[in-house]
Amino acid sequence: MTKHVQLRGFDIYPGLIPPAAQRDLRDALRQLAGVAPFFTPSTPAGKTMSVRMTSAGRCGWVSDRRGYRYDRCHPNGQPWPAIPHQVLALWQQLVSAERDPDCCLVNFYGEGSRMGLHQDRDEADFSWPVLSISLGDDALFRIGNRSRGGKTESIWLHSGDVVVMAGDARLTYHGVDRIRFGTSSLLAKGGRLNLTCRVVD
Ligand code: SIN
Ligand code: MN
Repeated sequence: MTKHVQLRGFDIYPGLIPPAAQRDLRDALRQLAGVAPFFTPSTPAGKTMSVRMTSAGRCGWVSDRRGYRYDRCHPNGQPWPAIPHQVLALWQQLVSAERDPDCCLVNFYGEGSRMGLHQDRDEADFSWPVLSISLGDDALFRIGNRSRGGKTESIWLHSGDVVVMAGDARLTYHGVDRIRFGTSSLLAKGGRLNLTCRVVD
């Protein structure tokens, strides 16, 4: 079994993606962003998010004044590109060989970006885990509870780390407090990419 650590039910695989494979995936994501450019989402309340986003797969996660949802198309009206094969291979290894994810959301954290504590709950079936891949700069990942509030614990995620949120952890609050800008040389201009794969419907 692949080596991993557990924190509050989250399975964390430190350095699962070796450096050469990280570069390969980075290049695949650069291509992806050429077809489905990163955009800045806003919350339903109209607040601009500090991360930039795009997606791959049958549907992509979008957020604007109309709410959080999965859409068949990028905001530019084009269908989302295919999920990179390297990502599907990780999903098949750690989550399921029976069914591929519908969506691979790609978040870019620039200097000062963060993501508040939230649950991933826009999917129809929470029995499917969420797979999360970190590339680039270190991120302080915070894990809370299944409801808002209470004690939390944090862990630094590094480039090449993979996290699986399954079972009870699937609906656990989590977020990114901050990134340590410039800690990785993977992305030429710095920053962090996080990929989350989900079964949506
Ligand atoms: C997310 O929860 O959507 C992102 C988590 C991360 O960036 O590590
Ligand atoms: Mn999330």
